[in-house]
Amino acid sequence: MATEIESKATFEAPPNIALVKYWGVRDPERAIPYNSSISVTLERLRSRTTVRFDPDLTEDEVLLNGEVATDGPRDGVVRFLDRVRARAGRSTRAEVRSTNNFPTASGLASSASGFAALAGAASAAAGLRLSPRALSQLARFGSGSASRSIFGGFVEWRAGARADGRDCYARPLFGPEHWPELVDLVLLVERAPVKQVRSADAMQQTVRTSPEFAGRQAELPDRIRRVHRALRERDPDRLFPLIMEECDSFRKVCETTRPSLDYLTATSRTILTEVDRLNRTAGRPLAGYTHDAGAHVHVFTLTEHLPRVRARLARLPGVVRSLTVRPGPGARRIA
Ligand code: DP6
Repeated sequence: MATEIESKATFEAPPNIALVKYWGVRDPERAIPYNSSISVTLERLRSRTTVRFDPDLTEDEVLLNGEVATDGPRDGVVRFLDRVRARAGRSTRAEVRSTNNFPTASGLASSASGFAALAGAASAAAGLRLSPRALSQLARFGSGSASRSIFGGFVEWRAGARADGRDCYARPLFGPEHWPELVDLVLLVERAPVKQVRSADAMQQTVRTSPEFAGRQAELPDRIRRVHRALRERDPDRLFPLIMEECDSFRKVCETTRPSLDYLTATSRTILTEVDRLNRTAGRPLAGYTHDAGAHVHVFTLTEHLPRVRARLARLPGVVRSLTVRPGPGARRIA
């Protein structure tokens, strides 16, 4: 048993947006997904999390954005701390303080940045010295997409083939500097509905009930290869249509889930249509849309097209704010 002294660490971690989506857990015990996924880590946005193990505490105290967390959000953090404690051979309770510099549960993937930061801070404070890969393997037990937020730039979370999950981890494909012209225009839409069903539950409903799930799985290995290649070659003509194809496939399995999962608002749908129209008018793909389990839309484009794309989309009725975000660095310890 490690000596029960106070110990503390702070990590910052960014959210990420998936270009190829994780949606479906093959092995819930080991948090192994059905398919590999690819994402872009986003600059400027971040969760900052401090974990302090304190022998005087009788239970874990969790503060999220300055408020005491209860129920589901607290339980998720406590379960995660239990996993870290078991691994470190400690039993000390902890105080966790986490803040986001963007709205929580807004579809901006606060669970990815939050659990990536928690994985880093909790493991460091508990005295575990984990490699980035091992950290990605730990983070996925909090939230699958958190495994990818450990790394900056363009990241693949490999589902792996082993039953024990040892080859299931995230790895950087290309650093944030790989494609400096690529930008993500994030369009925040009005009254984005707060998520009713947790992604973890929603995706398992899809696995159980969507008649489209098996077909999607069959397409994914090839799509992963094509997205990887388009990124390697910095090829917008391939990348933009591909991410829209993938986003449409993700939306189709959601919509055909029983009960149906509909994350978009009328404004989100208008944005998708406008991106299609813009590309058709230009005669080539100037932009590509994607969205997660939320109503905000991410539109990828190149710096040279950004003024045109923004002029077309940012002032649509129902769009309340737009942010221009580039690929950024991964999680890091700051104290
Ligand atoms: C649509 O990683 O948030 O954003 O593991 O339940 O926390 P949990 O799910 P989460 O789901 C992400 C779903 C997605 C696609 C993706 O990010 O790959």
